[in-house]
Amino acid sequence: MMSTARHELVLILDFGGQYTQLIARRVRELHVFCEIIPFDTPLATLAARSPKAIILSGGPASVYAASAPVCDPAVLDTGIPLLGICYGAQLMANLLGGSVEHAPSGEYGKTTVRLDKSSSLFRGLPAETSCWMSHNDRIGAIPTGFRTIASTPACPVAAMENPERRQFGIQFHPEVVHTPVGPDILRHFLFEAAGCTGDWTMSSFVDDAIQDIRLRVKDERALCALSGGVDSSVAATLVHRAIGDHLTCVFVDTGLLRTGEGDRVESLFHHRFDMPLVRIDASARFFASLRSVTEPEKKRKAIGAAFIDCFAEQARAMQGIPFLVQGTLYPDVIESGNSVASTIKSHHNVGGLPADLSFSLIEPLRLLFKDEVRDLGRALGLPEELVDRQPFPGPGLGVRILGEVTPENVNILQRADAVVERVMRSSGWYTKVWQSFAVLPNIHTVGVKGDERTYVHTIALRIVESSDGMTADWVRLPAEVLEEISHAITSELPEVNRVVYDITSKPPSTIEWE
Ligand code: XMP
Repeated sequence: MMSTARHELVLILDFGGQYTQLIARRVRELHVFCEIIPFDTPLATLAARSPKAIILSGGPASVYAASAPVCDPAVLDTGIPLLGICYGAQLMANLLGGSVEHAPSGEYGKTTVRLDKSSSLFRGLPAETSCWMSHNDRIGAIPTGFRTIASTPACPVAAMENPERRQFGIQFHPEVVHTPVGPDILRHFLFEAAGCTGDWTMSSFVDDAIQDIRLRVKDERALCALSGGVDSSVAATLVHRAIGDHLTCVFVDTGLLRTGEGDRVESLFHHRFDMPLVRIDASARFFASLRSVTEPEKKRKAIGAAFIDCFAEQARAMQGIPFLVQGTLYPDVIESGNSVASTIKSHHNVGGLPADLSFSLIEPLRLLFKDEVRDLGRALGLPEELVDRQPFPGPGLGVRILGEVTPENVNILQRADAVVERVMRSSGWYTKVWQSFAVLPNIHTVGVKGDERTYVHTIALRIVESSDGMTADWVRLPAEVLEEISHAITSELPEVNRVVYDITSKPPSTIEWE
């Protein structure tokens, strides 16, 4: 695992709050490295990391519930500066001898809060501001040694502090954008109360990562499945910086990628960055395995299996390579309880390799959030149109064609997809949305072109906004942009005479059509 011992570290104990990852992102935006760890991490493990501060996250439980998550009470006695947020603040109150009570009515959303500016947390901030609240319980009696430093009409103790012990509890959420002074509060806690200096930057991350990779790989070799997406591209580039020709990238052209993808990958990584790259044209194999397959799950399985076969064959042919580079990101690591090392998510990530191929994984992005990976890509000199790319599913266009996937269908969809990307980029919308793409529902409808009756394909447009792909909403794109896409598709593709717009959110739909 990537070492961070050279940097100041803040640990965030995760009590299951919906905003825990946001806390981490806000702390890192202040150039302080932080990690999210389970709430029940033993004190010894925690102390061994020598954190500059500990943050107790929010969480859905009530401190008095039988199943309430509780950290080792000794964590509150280490002398390490402590910030409790929402549930974390209530837990502090409870464990330190104060009390928590059920509020007569919960407080949700934007709320006006009065701040005591004599607290170091609120120095220089307005006496009254808005904050984001989301709670049923509230602190009743504050523990001995504490004083109240903020309040709202429904929450007399909206924040409390014990400056001597450098312990703070806030009921509202400083990590959420609806708390405009949130970044200031976190900065005051980290830099003044906890004495951090903000020593974590992208260039220091690159230097450390390169050093760690070199130490691990030594004179051995590493393999990387390069997909052309942001994560594998950034991971490969970083590892290549560290070990040069000892890294070989394998690009499997499934035939289900966007138009020109293989050439783009080859020209950037092989020709421009001079990386050893094996490009496998496996499209015939993928189309063969997809023949007559129409059921979505069977399609996904067929594509996944063909991918693993291709990659495994290549890996065997290059025998004796002990390391495999993966573009695993921090949210996956957190979601698998910090033990993702050997779990690999989806097919395109080469999960499920045969038993005779056992690799040690190098996951140089495993501590980074997606936006940090994009910054890292920029720092490594990757072109903006790669770094700003929207997510693309592992099974590729295979899950955007309903019914049988044939070379002819893929060819139509590739050209429609290229039009969508072109217009989305030229209108400035491409980077404002989560995903924008074309789907081929395999429906023929009647149309008229010139004086001729046509009976050809329909293209569906799927353009959604989302923050993590788990939920999504369709984008209210200006009619002119929709019109431009529709006009360009129907004029440039003789096989299409109709374009429709998908106006469903997720749930009840999913983002992809299959
Ligand atoms: P759904 O369709 O489930 O998609 O709403 C959510 C997000 O995940 C992407 N997606 C995939 N990504 N392998 C991937 O790497 C897959 O098999 C896969 N299926 C869906 C999808 O594009 C969206 O961003």
